[in-house]
Amino acid sequence: MESRVELLGIVVGQTKPHQFHFLAKRAISMGEYVTVDSPTGRILGLTEDSTTRSDLLDKMNDFRTASEARKVAMKNTRDKSYNASVKVVGLLDQLRRGRVVLPSLPPEPGSEVFEARGEEIGEIFDRKEKQWAPIGSLLRNDDVRVSVNMDKVASRHLAILSVTGSGKSNLLALIVKQVALLQGTMVVFDYHGEYSELEIGGVVHAEAKINPRFVTADQLADLCDVRENADVQRTVLVKAFTEEVKASPKFWDSLLQGVRNVGVSEKGYSRVASRVEDIVQIAIKRMKAVVDPDVGDVLDQIKASKVNILNMLEFTERQANAAITYYLEEILDDRKRAMRSRGEETKVRFRTPIICAIEEAHAFIPADQQSDTAYIASKVAREGRKFGMSLIVVSQRPRRVSQDVLSQMGSFAIMKLTNPEDQTHVTEASEAISEDLLQNLPSLNTGEAVLIGEWVNIPAVVKLDHVVEKKTGADISATSLWAAQHAMNQVARESTKGFMDTE
Ligand SMILES: Nc1ncnc2c1ncn2[C@@H]1O[C@H](COP(=O)(O)OP(=O)(O)OP(=O)(O)O)[C@@H](O)[C@H]1O
Ligand SMILES: [Mg+2]
Repeated sequence: MESRVELLGIVVGQTKPHQFHFLAKRAISMGEYVTVDSPTGRILGLTEDSTTRSDLLDKMNDFRTASEARKVAMKNTRDKSYNASVKVVGLLDQLRRGRVVLPSLPPEPGSEVFEARGEEIGEIFDRKEKQWAPIGSLLRNDDVRVSVNMDKVASRHLAILSVTGSGKSNLLALIVKQVALLQGTMVVFDYHGEYSELEIGGVVHAEAKINPRFVTADQLADLCDVRENADVQRTVLVKAFTEEVKASPKFWDSLLQGVRNVGVSEKGYSRVASRVEDIVQIAIKRMKAVVDPDVGDVLDQIKASKVNILNMLEFTERQANAAITYYLEEILDDRKRAMRSRGEETKVRFRTPIICAIEEAHAFIPADQQSDTAYIASKVAREGRKFGMSLIVVSQRPRRVSQDVLSQMGSFAIMKLTNPEDQTHVTEASEAISEDLLQNLPSLNTGEAVLIGEWVNIPAVVKLDHVVEKKTGADISATSLWAAQHAMNQVARESTKGFMDTE
């Protein structure tokens, strides 16, 4: 007879094949896994919500009554009740064989509920096949390791969502490590320069660049900071940005000449053309580090079979928008060529699937406005699976990320989320997250996440591993930096004083 741990509770109330409640002997945490026998076999369930209640201390109106009731409640062991609501994740036997099969019948009220033991569920979460990569441990059973299916990450897209500082970038760094280990191809658009110190084998770093020869006229106007509603200025730039200019060895000179020509040849354009010339002149100096007509094809910076960190720290939001759009468009085209060529054509860069990660997705893939990145991201989200190209979108403001893109995400890592609008936006994007689980998201701590969707067989509530190699991104301690600076100033003052004294 298999040994089972101590009884945890009893199933009560109305039960369903996918959900039940139980009354427990002790307080229960969200994220605890339990087992219970049902007419169709032993079930594994995930506790999504729990309450602790005292009958005697309910509806108290004044301190004195509450204080007396407390004494009685402490003596009366029946007073407190611990109620938990459980989502059925599947039949235990089937899950251990890697299959998710839900029971056809609900557990009977009165059935006994047990804590799921590490040895019972270990193999369900810690899969050993080569496509599974370990990224953490179960939050409430830390002896159980949790792996995610990297094949799904590379094909079905992933969203990493939470309030700021909860560990999204740490999770992305974990994925980077795993992709590097698997010698996969990945691009991280590093808008905050957060991953520039990530020194891991298989990870390469490059400065992202924009070649203005390859952007659209509208993007060029954006890059030069021509105002969006300055229609005439934009028209001048569009007219000047000809194929000859694009091919000219002296790109900027030719563009400026083109602008001057429009001023001369088109009636009524001379003043605007001279203004545009000034704007372009200023822009050339301002964006020298980022926009370079002599950089060649910026796609050359991306190495196949490596994780490519593209540093974008110097980029403004508009520039990053133009750059990410270009990279995504080109990569998608390349992957389409690769799939069509069946390994024959030579003009293919990426012969194997590629993952592209976009941090600050609310800025580049916004919900309420058009953006070039949003357009191409939505295309990749819809078509990428067929061509071996996937997106990872990371955001601390899920409600501001386009639903068009979010709803195409096959997998989610959701960490602490406190804003109800964020929560609703996420449920709209994925049915896999229930109301109960949603309500418990504010209680998650840094590095704790709910993993749902394609990359896990069943929902996993985990504590993610910490990537010690990633040093930037931690909270800055202002007080210790001020103190250190003060100490340095003191030393400098003392030494100058000594110098002055000897003079
Ligand atoms: N799993 C974890 N274990 C321990 N510490 C962690 C874990 N995840 C993140 N941290 C720490 O928490 C801090 C914030 O993490 P991180 O930068 O990943 O958060 P974030 O959600 O990306 O924040 P932001 O929204 O500001 O980008 C960092 O100091 C990081 O080292
Ligand atoms: Mg971050």
